[in-house]
Amino acid sequence: MRFLNFVPLALCVHDVLAAGPPVFFFTKFPTSTTALRDELITRMDNISRWSCTNEPGVTKYALVIPRGGGDNLTAYSIEQYDDDPTFLSHLSAPLVSTSLFSWSTSTPNLWTSDPLVQNFTLLPNDMTFSKPEFAKASNPYIVVESLTYTSGGVHHVMDHWEEEVAAARNETGTLLFGVYGDPTNNNRLWTLAAYESEQYWREVHEKSETARELRFAWWAAEELVGLGSRFYCYNLTDNFPAEVDKILAYLNFDMVSQGTYYVSDGDGSTGRGWRTQPSADVIEKLWLDYFAGIGIAAKERAIGFDSDHFFFQEILKKSVGFLSRAWMLRRILAIIRRVTISIM
Ligand SMILES: *[C@@H]1O[C@H](CO)[C@@H](O)[C@H](O)[C@H]1NC(C)=O
Ligand SMILES: *[C@@H]1O[C@H](CO)[C@@H](O)[C@H](O)[C@H]1NC(C)=O
Ligand SMILES: *[C@@H]1O[C@H](CO)[C@@H](O)[C@H](O)[C@H]1NC(C)=O
Ligand SMILES: *[C@@H]1O[C@H](CO)[C@@H](O)[C@H](O)[C@H]1NC(C)=O
Ligand SMILES: *[C@@H]1O[C@H](CO)[C@@H](O)[C@H](O)[C@H]1NC(C)=O
Repeated sequence: MRFLNFVPLALCVHDVLAAGPPVFFFTKFPTSTTALRDELITRMDNISRWSCTNEPGVTKYALVIPRGGGDNLTAYSIEQYDDDPTFLSHLSAPLVSTSLFSWSTSTPNLWTSDPLVQNFTLLPNDMTFSKPEFAKASNPYIVVESLTYTSGGVHHVMDHWEEEVAAARNETGTLLFGVYGDPTNNNRLWTLAAYESEQYWREVHEKSETARELRFAWWAAEELVGLGSRFYCYNLTDNFPAEVDKILAYLNFDMVSQGTYYVSDGDGSTGRGWRTQPSADVIEKLWLDYFAGIGIAAKERAIGFDSDHFFFQEILKKSVGFLSRAWMLRRILAIIRRVTISIM
């Protein structure tokens, strides 16, 4: 995962005019000196101003550098054109060809490596929005992120991203948000977002309901009837009840080395096990669907009191789920078999 946040230097936003697929890309310009980077910035800033007035089909044109200046050598552009003809017409505009292309080809050692162009493609559902306030923002906080999932994983996170886009639309200080595909990698998504300020991003967007946090915990003395996890749960109920409300669900990973894949029976369909809390079935379904999607036939196992999830379910009343594999069981069976054989 790459995480970049930027100061915009030149910013131009127009409403999207054409229905056709836009040309949308993010380019990294690795210049060899700070003076050349600054000259590139001046030239592209000038082009941006000209394009904003004269090229209505240029729907986004931003030149950005990392907050704090980064390495002082790299600049990035975010460019979106209504369609291919608009893009080609922009490339052949006299100002672009003289001020940018002639200059860059005639400047020796301008780049330390070729500029890197990353195209963004629109996803089938409406996963983008931009608000009129974005065009007026004086110093928006821009975040570009790439997320690479396991094979087929993008399919599983689409619902999450749809919710995230819907929620971000409601946030007054979230001025632009989009989730895009990557034509070079089916398992990667890109997000582009602009907030009215860094503070807004930190205080509001990151704390919104869909931007949930994961808390990782390693428990001690599970074999001694869950000493560590039990203590944790009682500490919260006894001393920090407000903390309990912050927990949505608990996932347990115990004995995950090798053998059959077992998924917690959250909907009680095995007819065995402890009673479950609401939504444990959602966890079960997510996992079963995930494994089915990658060609693994996972089995269900009843939710019992045999590991740390038990206390989260019974003390904190949280939905729980677990993944486990039958390694230990297989080992024990193999030992029993060997012992049986040697007795015989
Ligand atoms: C970039 O330039 C700024 C201002 O001149 C300087 O403070 C900073 O140390 C430079 N950063 C690097 C990585 O050279
Ligand atoms: C800036 O743009 C104007 C047109 O808007 C052009 O006349 C001028 O030459 C450009 N300056 C540079 C340094 O490219
Ligand atoms: C990226 O977009 C440009 C402009 O449409 C196109 O020429 C280029 O082939 C695209 N590259 C990829 C990898 O899709
Ligand atoms: C957005 O706000 C409206 C009005 O307050 C509300 O009805 C809707 O549920 C909200 N949508 C999301 C995704 O938060
Ligand atoms: C009890 O919970 C609080 C709040 O999460 C935590 O700060 C504290 O360290 C916990 N106590 C112990 C002994 O773990």
